[in-house]
Amino acid sequence: MIRTPEALIPYMLLCACVAGGVLWSLSAEHPAAVSELHLTQLGGPFHLTDQTGHARSDAEYRGRYVLLYFGYTNCPDVCPTTLTQMQDALTRLGPKAKRIVPIFVTIDPARDTPKALGAYLRAFGPQFVGLSGTPAQTARIAKEYRVYYAKRPLEGGTYAMDHSGEVYLLGPDGQLVTFYDPPLDPAAWARDLGARVE
Ligand code: NI
Repeated sequence: MIRTPEALIPYMLLCACVAGGVLWSLSAEHPAAVSELHLTQLGGPFHLTDQTGHARSDAEYRGRYVLLYFGYTNCPDVCPTTLTQMQDALTRLGPKAKRIVPIFVTIDPARDTPKALGAYLRAFGPQFVGLSGTPAQTARIAKEYRVYYAKRPLEGGTYAMDHSGEVYLLGPDGQLVTFYDPPLDPAAWARDLGARVE
C-alpha cells in the first residue's frame, strides 16, 4: 500500500470502476512514468473552486497536510470506497487528523459542479473539501500529479471516467510526502499518517 520513492512502480493502478482501460504506463499519451520521477517533481500550484463556490489555491493549505485524491462523483465503487477509507483512517488517527485537509478533486467537472460535489461529500464528513475547475484547470493539476483520466462512453449516451487512484499526501510546505495506492487498509493508513504527521 505504502510507496517509498525507491518502490515507485512504473504504472498507476486504474480505478477498478474502470473496465477495459489500459494501464497508464502503456498509454502513448502519458509517456512520463511516475517511476522516472522523484516525489519533488510531482505536484504544483493550482487554482480551483470549492464546493461552496469559493476560489481555492494550493497556497492556502501551507502549514497543514493535505490528502489529495482525484475522482468523480458518479464513480460506482472505487471513489466512494477510497473516500470512506480515508474518512476511516482519519477517524483512527485521532487528534492529528485536525492537521490534515482531505481534498477531492473532480476529473469530471462537466458533471461535478461545486453544488454536486458538496452534496456528494456530505456523506464523508464536513472536513472534506471538494474542488472543481475548468477543463484547462483540471488538465493542469492532473498533469502536475500525473493523474490519468479519460472519458469512456457508455450505452445510452452517458459516460464513465477512467482514472488513476492514488491518494497523495502533501506536507505543510506543499511538497509531496508520499502517495498511497488502493486497496487501502484504514488501520495501516492511519498508522502511516501518524508516523508522518507532526
Ligand atoms: Ni473512481
